[in-house]
Amino acid sequence: MTERKILLSEKDMPRQWYNIVADMPNAPQPVLHPGTKQPVGPQDLAPLFPMALIEQEVSAQKFIDIPEEVLHHLTLWRPAPMFRALNLEKAIGTRSHIYYKYEGGSPAGSHKPNTAIAQAYYNKKEGVKRLSTETGAGQWGSSLALAGSLFGLEVKVYMVKVSYEQKPYRRALMETWGAQVVASPSTDTMSGKKILAQDPNSNGSLGIAISEAVEDAAQREDTKYALGSVLNHVLLHQTIIGEEALKQMAIAGEFPDVVIGSHGGGSNFAGLAFPFLREKIHGKKVRIVAVEPAACPTLTRGTYAYDFGDTVGLTPLVKMYTLGHDFMPAGIHAGGLRYHGASGLVSQLVHEGLIEAAAVTQNDIFGSALTFARSEGILPAPESSHAIHQAVVEAKNADAEGKSRVILFNLSGHGHFDLTAYQQYMQGAMKDSTLPEAELKKALASLPTV
Ligand SMILES: Cc1ncc(COP(=O)(O)O)c(C=O)c1O
Repeated sequence: MTERKILLSEKDMPRQWYNIVADMPNAPQPVLHPGTKQPVGPQDLAPLFPMALIEQEVSAQKFIDIPEEVLHHLTLWRPAPMFRALNLEKAIGTRSHIYYKYEGGSPAGSHKPNTAIAQAYYNKKEGVKRLSTETGAGQWGSSLALAGSLFGLEVKVYMVKVSYEQKPYRRALMETWGAQVVASPSTDTMSGKKILAQDPNSNGSLGIAISEAVEDAAQREDTKYALGSVLNHVLLHQTIIGEEALKQMAIAGEFPDVVIGSHGGGSNFAGLAFPFLREKIHGKKVRIVAVEPAACPTLTRGTYAYDFGDTVGLTPLVKMYTLGHDFMPAGIHAGGLRYHGASGLVSQLVHEGLIEAAAVTQNDIFGSALTFARSEGILPAPESSHAIHQAVVEAKNADAEGKSRVILFNLSGHGHFDLTAYQQYMQGAMKDSTLPEAELKKALASLPTV
């Protein structure tokens, strides 16, 4: 009988994070100061992050030890299981072998606590009392709220207004773990007030919420800022996913032909993919695919240029694929994938041809999410369903070519707070939106000159 679950014991848990910078063909592009447009130094970042995270952000060391206390908290749910998707394979009638790494078993329901725990640990160690952050659909905010409660840190979350109103249970979850949550744009910051003066009915966006959280941290001695994706140290913390997955694929006696992750800012994708990319750089044959929404097609239709990470222009400039920092994505259900930019590392690796990118529409991803829920049982997050859909596409392509491939994807979270979206899909009321060319051109006009 083929084993369905591939499990690791706690003693087999990886004890080091993997830093892709050590193996990249070209050094990462420098991050620039928003005022001087010169490369930022550690002191520029010190108001926002503890020094240990700044060191990780610029590190070229290949492996970085995971502190014992971080491992201790990660074992609340790690090692995470890998599944062979036997029922899905049968449901779609493929000859290919499909595997998924399941990150939805964390207390917050996604991969995000992998970095939230690490960030809270380093902040606590350096005497920080309070963390500020933004959240879109609420996955990252809940993860930082959880980490704050484990380490005794106060957490303030700026939650994108449309989600704040649509997802009261995510908000309640954050409050249960002790965080303070406000709708963004808020009147608590100058950035929020500025946006509200322009548009009192603003629905908010991730870019605006980042501006508010960054301003909050920059204003207060006791507070640092925490980001749930995009930055090098965040991607680093997520590589525990791929390091576990490498061991689990070895137990299964296979190596993937294709590795897939959904892409918002890049962290669950990179978490699974970077350790496999290391193997690719060292000679293994494997395709690596990042999947994004057609409504927010950063990697597939954005420009590779320096841009701000937030809307107001407070963050450093990152060379990345971007749709322009004041781009307002359509209100698709995959809230975690509605970001104008991308991680600098993922962007550079796409630009250099080591990673492929694909864009898919929301009716397609919900179709595959339903097939998955009705065969494998787990209700996937809309974000993760982008990866499921691409895995189904890859399997069907292999069948059409008369081939059997090994496909691995990251099931980054569960969708228990996304049932309104499922209802809408099942009632046939879900709208697709693909970004019109004229809107893309208009958004890109806001790119800063560097
Ligand atoms: C379940 C899930 N998957 C994926 C993402 C996308 O973020 P990232 O690209 O950083 O993994 C999010 C973001 O909130 C998420 O909640």
